[in-house]
Amino acid sequence: MTTQLRRNLLTFLSCITLLVALAVGAAEPPKGFPEPLNSTQFKEELSKGLHIVDFYSPYCPHCKHLAPVWMETWEEFKEEGNKLNITFSQVNCIESADLCADENIEFFPDIRLYNPSGYIKSFTETPRTKESLIAFARRESMDPDNLDADLDSALSLSQDLEGFDFLELIAGKATRPHLISFWPAKDLRDSDDLVNFENCARCREFQRTWKIISRQVNVEDIRTGHVNCESNPTICEELGFAELAKITNHRGDREPKVALVLPNKTSNSLIDYPNGYSVNSKGYVDFAKRTFANSQFPNITEEELRKKVRGSVEFLQERGSVSNNDIHLVFAYDPETVVIEDFDILQYLIEPLSKIPNVYLYQIDKSLIDTSRIFFEGMYEVINHNSSEAQKRFNEEYFAMNTVTQLPTFFMFKDGDFISHVYPGYSTTEMRKIDAIMKWVERYSTPLVAEVTSSNFRELMSFEPETYSNLAVQLVSGGKNKQIKGSNTLIHKLLCANWDYEHTRMENNFEQINIKRTKKADSIKLLREKQAPADKIVNKMREEIPHVDHNKLLLGYLDISKEKNFFKKFGITGDHKVGEVIIIDKLNNYYYTKDNFGNNLTPNNLQSLREAFVSLNIPSKALYNAKLGGRLMNSPFHSAFSFLDIVHQNGIFGYLLIVLLIIMLFKGPSFCRRYRIMKHYKGKRDVVGILGNVEKKQSQD
Ligand SMILES: *[C@@H]1O[C@H](CO)[C@@H](O)[C@H](O)[C@H]1NC(C)=O
Ligand SMILES: *[C@@H]1O[C@H](CO)[C@@H](O)[C@H](O)[C@H]1NC(C)=O
Ligand SMILES: *[C@@H]1O[C@H](CO)[C@@H](O)[C@H](O)[C@H]1NC(C)=O
Ligand SMILES: *[C@@H]1O[C@H](CO)[C@@H](O)[C@H](O)[C@H]1NC(C)=O
Ligand SMILES: *[C@@H]1O[C@H](CO)[C@@H](O)[C@H](O)[C@H]1NC(C)=O
Repeated sequence: MTTQLRRNLLTFLSCITLLVALAVGAAEPPKGFPEPLNSTQFKEELSKGLHIVDFYSPYCPHCKHLAPVWMETWEEFKEEGNKLNITFSQVNCIESADLCADENIEFFPDIRLYNPSGYIKSFTETPRTKESLIAFARRESMDPDNLDADLDSALSLSQDLEGFDFLELIAGKATRPHLISFWPAKDLRDSDDLVNFENCARCREFQRTWKIISRQVNVEDIRTGHVNCESNPTICEELGFAELAKITNHRGDREPKVALVLPNKTSNSLIDYPNGYSVNSKGYVDFAKRTFANSQFPNITEEELRKKVRGSVEFLQERGSVSNNDIHLVFAYDPETVVIEDFDILQYLIEPLSKIPNVYLYQIDKSLIDTSRIFFEGMYEVINHNSSEAQKRFNEEYFAMNTVTQLPTFFMFKDGDFISHVYPGYSTTEMRKIDAIMKWVERYSTPLVAEVTSSNFRELMSFEPETYSNLAVQLVSGGKNKQIKGSNTLIHKLLCANWDYEHTRMENNFEQINIKRTKKADSIKLLREKQAPADKIVNKMREEIPHVDHNKLLLGYLDISKEKNFFKKFGITGDHKVGEVIIIDKLNNYYYTKDNFGNNLTPNNLQSLREAFVSLNIPSKALYNAKLGGRLMNSPFHSAFSFLDIVHQNGIFGYLLIVLLIIMLFKGPSFCRRYRIMKHYKGKRDVVGILGNVEKKQSQD
């Protein structure tokens, strides 16, 4: 191509792109799109229900970018919003500067949720898309806390703690547990007070959360208190919350911290809340209740345990329903042989267990092997009852092999599961190794069926690949009560297929161990025949046959009504519907959606789903020869051809996008550099300023 020709072509293409950009940029508001609210209207409008308000300035580039998205969101959600009693509104902060000052708006656009009593929380997801805004509206409209008038008029029960009070608490003066929050403030007396928090974008919303927490934990007789870090800098620095004591940067990223003080303890009495900041009270309440309960090492009886574990488990919950989904870690000892030092290990478990959701610690003065056996037998009842295959039988010998241990030891049971675990503590030393015990606890304390989301997917994928080779994901849809019931049924069927697979897996493990045993016996025999030295024979006899526990399945469910972009995000192609199962090979990043006969995987066909698990993990035990066809996640081949999808989905705009792509091929390097700079600042803070300039310069050339 000659330079001249290339230049002409480029000009031509740029012109088209510019025209398109103009056409898109000047999008007309849809019919009936409301004017921004002024301060009089704001108060009146708010009293009518929940509102998601976009506080914006007509001059900020991000606001301009958001404007068409906001219009589309408003139009698409209008009708549903009427039914859910939640509305998308706007406030122009240049025209209504007083209102925005009253509401403490510090940057644009600031998107916030309000109820008739005022501000609740902020919408902070990026990128801000129609989908994410609508998902936020749906979620918040279903949260009963948001429209609880009693809660809005209620007061926080949290006590203002000065440094001295706090030090006394952690020194053992607390006779009840205290949950304490730490704030970047100096004049927060009542935790509901409207004070000015500096560089803490989340503080205001957390005040409401803290009020909810203080009332919820009070029911369990757990007290709450709050500490002003700016007036107690030494304490906060000692606790590792130095950033709350003084301002160290210009960002708004300081967040309140929370910790629990255990009662009547003179050392190690303070336990930090282990998870990151959340506006949701649930995690904090669970942490406080569970950690305090665990610190008491309560007794449990076998009957209580059976009742809990065999109770019904609901994964998706209807509003107001409670379901047990707990994991019980039981320290089992023999009162005849136990020594007082054996109990010391329990102290060291409190803190690490606070980090694993749903784990409860108990003690019992007998072995739980019989209880374990009853559960395992129950598993065989269920798989035989639900399958037309020949009866499968509980393998007593394999069970004994896995549960042989001395007391004291730990047993683990999960609500809704038949499979239990025993810590292989063959000696006192093993029972005093906190790291080994915690490693074992972490490996097996995964939720029975975990909710899979875009944010935890990578973590699930990398979790203990040695033990869990596959992640089996049941596609479900929450929402209405009827759908919730159907979804729970699907998940229970997936569990049933998993137990059926567990039978094959355990039988195979048993076989492998027997082969190794025979080999060992043979080589001992051989050594004897050769009249080898005695120590050689003894060494061989002492050799342990490792009990490997691999090829287990990690089970999950994906609520596709909440996770619309999941498949695209993780490079899983094709259409996927409720009822289907996707098996993901965690080690190789392959995913499987079809069984050995090319039909969609579903738990409604128990046998074919189990066979899929067997074919992938224990091919020597598979009933069918046909291999499963897998696909690579995020395959480069998908993305190489994805421009075809673009055209397909966007019609003429798709072609224009490809034209843009071609331009970028020519002008790519310089564009990319600028984009990197832009992104660098974008990560810093979402405000008008440096970023505005970068963007303006960009659109000029
Ligand atoms: C807001 O707009 C309404 C209707 O246009 C008007 O009556 C009212 O005076 C305005 N209030 C303020 C504070 O501008
Ligand atoms: C919407 O919420 C408001 C505030 O709680 C309430 O007064 C109103 O009755 C609700 N409207 C509908 C249609 O549910
Ligand atoms: C702590 O000790 C006090 C006084 O000895 C007692 O009344 C209280 O019940 C204890 N608290 C707990 C949680 O054991
Ligand atoms: C737990 O059980 C043991 C043995 O039965 C008993 O000595 C102890 O007092 C019990 N502890 C509690 C807190 O009930
Ligand atoms: C399997 O069988 C049991 C009875 O043993 C029954 O309660 C259950 O609903 C059946 N289905 C599944 C999916 O477990």
